Order: sequence, then structure tokens, then C-alpha cells
Amino acid sequence: MLGSQRRQLALQLAAALAVLSLAWPYYGLRNEQLPWPETALGIGAVALLFASLTQQAWWWRLIHALFVPLAWAASTFNIDPGWYLLLFIVLLLVYRGAVTGQVPLYLSNAATAAAIAELTKDLPEMRFLDLGAGVGSVLGPLARQRPDAHLSGVENAPATWACGRLRVAGLANCDWRWGDIWQTTLGAYDVVYAFLSPTPMAALWEKAQREMRPGTLFISNSFPVPDVLAERVIEVDDARQTRLFCYRL
Ligand SMILES: C[S@@+](CC[C@H](N)C(=O)[O-])C[C@H]1O[C@@H](n2cnc3c(N)ncnc32)[C@H](O)[C@@H]1O
Repeated sequence: MLGSQRRQLALQLAAALAVLSLAWPYYGLRNEQLPWPETALGIGAVALLFASLTQQAWWWRLIHALFVPLAWAASTFNIDPGWYLLLFIVLLLVYRGAVTGQVPLYLSNAATAAAIAELTKDLPEMRFLDLGAGVGSVLGPLARQRPDAHLSGVENAPATWACGRLRVAGLANCDWRWGDIWQTTLGAYDVVYAFLSPTPMAALWEKAQREMRPGTLFISNSFPVPDVLAERVIEVDDARQTRLFCYRL
């Protein structure tokens, strides 16, 4: 089966091919120039049709409908292609996780960090790991509040990692690492925290079950492990109504 991103790419390409394979000969035979605005709108409409027929999520359908028309509109601004390349590189440095594992960057807020501090307050010298630690929104506050604890964070988006590195610099109980979630061994930790996306949760839970010690705690912010009942769900009193799903190994 195709991965989700490749499936979406295939849909766009199929729509572009379908429209261009009709439009090029049609206008070519009439010795007329291809009308790009109409062609771009046509590709968007066909892509929307394909996405609807294959029952893609509503936001994918929106992206399919708008992608080529917006690309055409952007091309009319005559912006130097170097700027697009620069923007692409900056986005990749921050959002690498979204491209490689469908895990974008969004941050835990202070109320969530406080809820985690409360939840773990009875674990002396706790060893805590944030998988995909972002810019240290959980690790920083926890490290300040819990000088007895050992806090570790692993992050693999370069710009995000660098921001977090600066944020936790000087916190002696914080170990800020460059690395991949899937290459990180979980056996040494009392608490493992993840705020990722629905996509990796089943595989991550399998990894946690393989590697974490019995009695230790796995916390997922917002995204429950599919088909596994959480031992406890903490409702954080914040604007986005964060829920922390807690699983005991
Ligand atoms: C939703 S953010 C959460 C950030 C932080 N844990 C927090 O709660 O504020 C998810 C983070 O995981 C990182 N990430 C995604 N896939 C990763 C991977 N395979 N290895 C390491 N980090 C990853 C992303 O770059 C992003 O910073």
C-alpha cells in the first residue's frame, strides 16, 4: 500500500496528467497557447474530484483543489526561485518531523508542563524522557521545578533542536540530545512523554511495551494509543483542553 504522502502526490500527478493530456493536444491542434489560469483551475478541480472519489480527508481535498491554482498564482509574482528554496530549507529545518513521520511541531503549554509536574511529583529522582522534545517546553519547566530529577529530551529537527539546546543550557539536570525517537532506548526511564500525532502511536506503544520497565509510565499528550485503555486521562485546565493519556507498563 502507498504511504499517505505518496498517495497524495500520485493523486495530484494523475490530475495534472489527465488535464494536460487533453489540454495540450486540444490547444496545440488549434495553434493556440495553453491558457494557464484555466488549466490550473482545471487541474485543481480534477484533483478535488479524484480526492473525493478516493475519500481523502476534507483537508487533503482542500489542499488538492488549491495546490496548482495557488502555484500558478505564485508564479505570476515573478519571485526569484531562490526564495522558494530558502523557505523550503527553513521549513525543513523546523518541520522535518512532519515530512519524515507526519509529526509536526506544536508545543506543550505551561499548564501541561505543570500537570506533568503534579502527576510525577511522587517519583523521587525520576528519570524522564520527552520523545520529540521540540524546543523544551516541557523539559525546561520540569528541570527547574525538579532539581532532583534527570530530564532527557530527544529531537531531530535541526532548528527546533538548536532552540531547545539554548533554552535548557545551564540546567544541569537536563540532557538535550540530537536523535531519532525510534533509535532511542526507553528502558532507563521512569516516565516517557510524547506529544506527536495519531500516526506513530500504535508503533510507539509497541516500542514502549518492548523496552520500558514494568510499573513505569507512558504519557501521550492528545493522542491516545489506538485500542488500548489508558489507566488515567488527565484533563488539563487550558484553552485547548489538553488531555494527557497515561499508560502504566
Ligand atoms: C508536537 S511536537 C512536541 C514538542 C514537545 N514535546 C512539546 O511537547 O512541546 C513533536 C516534536 O517531535 C519531533 N519529532 C518528530 N519526529 C521525530 C523523530 N523521529 N525523532 C525525534 N524527534 C522527532 C518534531 O520535530 C517536533 O519537534
